[in-house]
Amino acid sequence: MSSIEVIQGDITELQVNAIVNAANASLMGGGGVDGAIHRAAGSELLEECRKLGGCETGEAKLTNGYQLPARFIIHTVGPVWQDGNQGEPELLRQCYINSLKIADQNQLVSIAFPCISTGAYGYPKALAAETAVNTCRDQLQQANAVQKVIFCCFGEQDYEIYQKLLSKHQ
Ligand code: APR
Repeated sequence: MSSIEVIQGDITELQVNAIVNAANASLMGGGGVDGAIHRAAGSELLEECRKLGGCETGEAKLTNGYQLPARFIIHTVGPVWQDGNQGEPELLRQCYINSLKIADQNQLVSIAFPCISTGAYGYPKALAAETAVNTCRDQLQQANAVQKVIFCCFGEQDYEIYQKLLSKHQ
């Protein structure tokens, strides 16, 4: 029986099989959750990322979690919000689909997502949350290994948005 839940906290502290990083195309680290994950995982993460050759928007790539409690990190690159008519919703959907696909292919059972693209990339929080919840709900129905999706919200506002969405369709 699969489950989707939302918590408020720091994704680098979660004891899950994989946490998802909201990275940039270079995969060479940055600010926000990307910076927090690289700081917590340690310098070996950057060494592994260097060999990955970057990541396209909407795509996802797996690395070890190193010093994180999570065994793996799935790096995905969200779309930068323009006006909503440049393919942003579909690209954001692909981030969740491809992250879950990698988790399933690696027999991972639990995965935690940050609010991808809603920080530096400016994606409206409520729109992003809707895409995240709807996509993960659909994908979980056909997943073989993944059973638990956690939306890890750093801020109170995000947490409230996800709580409302998840309680609507529970
Ligand atoms: N745990 C969970 N969520 C976090 C954490 C954390 N430790 N730190 C930040 N966040 C949240 C932010 O509050 C926001 O809700 O992650 C969400 C995504 O924001 P960003 O990290 O700014 O990511 P994004 O909007 O996808 O922009 C990506 O920013 O950091 C750079 O290298 C990154 O260029 C890329 C861009």
